[in-house]
Amino acid sequence: MVGTNTAPRCAVVTGGARGIGAAIVRELGARGVHVVVVDVDDQALKACEAEERPAGSSVRCVKADVSQEADWRRVLELARSAFGPVGVLVNNAGISPKRDGKKIPASEMPLEEWHQVLAVNLTGAFIGSKLVFPDMRDMGWGRIVNIASQAARTGARVAGVHYGASKAGLLGLTRTLAYEYGPYGVTVNAVTPGRILTPMALGVDDHVNQTFLADIPIGRLGTPEDMASVVGFLASDEAGFVTGATIDANGGSYMG
Ligand SMILES: NC(=O)c1ccc[n+]([C@@H]2O[C@H](COP(=O)([O-])OP(=O)(O)OC[C@H]3O[C@@H](n4cnc5c(N)ncnc54)[C@H](O)[C@@H]3O)[C@@H](O)[C@H]2O)c1
Repeated sequence: MVGTNTAPRCAVVTGGARGIGAAIVRELGARGVHVVVVDVDDQALKACEAEERPAGSSVRCVKADVSQEADWRRVLELARSAFGPVGVLVNNAGISPKRDGKKIPASEMPLEEWHQVLAVNLTGAFIGSKLVFPDMRDMGWGRIVNIASQAARTGARVAGVHYGASKAGLLGLTRTLAYEYGPYGVTVNAVTPGRILTPMALGVDDHVNQTFLADIPIGRLGTPEDMASVVGFLASDEAGFVTGATIDANGGSYMG
């Protein structure tokens, strides 16, 4: 269980139907948490719905767009009525648009695409963190985990400037919310994954991932489960003194 002294809590995981998000949903499920999965990918949502879950944990998969406040309100209403107040929020949904597997140079980037990436990767996390706060404040307990990226630390080499800026923005959001929410028993932390084997990372030329490999002391690319175990800890009672932190989960390719 996430909380050792309470009934199972309710979590919301965005972008939870596949990739890193799906592994986070499994990790929280194994800890006895009920999870509402938010995603826009119909096929992945279907698979998520069909997946067998451990006893003591239920999962609801909802089609919703994190960049839309009305969608967030619908998701949180559903979560509360199904499982009670939301104690854990994992802002994991993210997009990294490319052209033929390559980054779009800043000088050629359409403004709409900049806005779209910021809306999903950064504003979505803001809206969710804002709307979930009353639940956590009233419980005197909450955990928000923002999935940023190593690109927030180093700049984005493979992704575009919109992606790099949105992920760096998430670290600012994390630290500022940590100040605001800390007095209410709510921690806010970020995880900065390195290169992780998911559909997002596989959407580039293979040699790109081979190049990354050369810089990873641990000697392999990451797995979604590597990220999920970090999130599981940050969402637990045991992590109550960790807030405003950025956990670099990258096999050693960036050491802060
Ligand atoms: N894979 C990597 O190497 C890597 C590295 C660093 C950071 N990350 C970050 O980790 C997170 C998960 O990445 P992943 O590799 O699992 O990617 P992924 O593309 O496999 O999964 C992202 C999920 O988010 C969903 N999503 C996209 N837009 C959405 C929206 N508007 N509303 C709700 N859901 C939406 C997608 O449908 C998808 O299921 C992302 O934020 C990504 O930026 C990934």
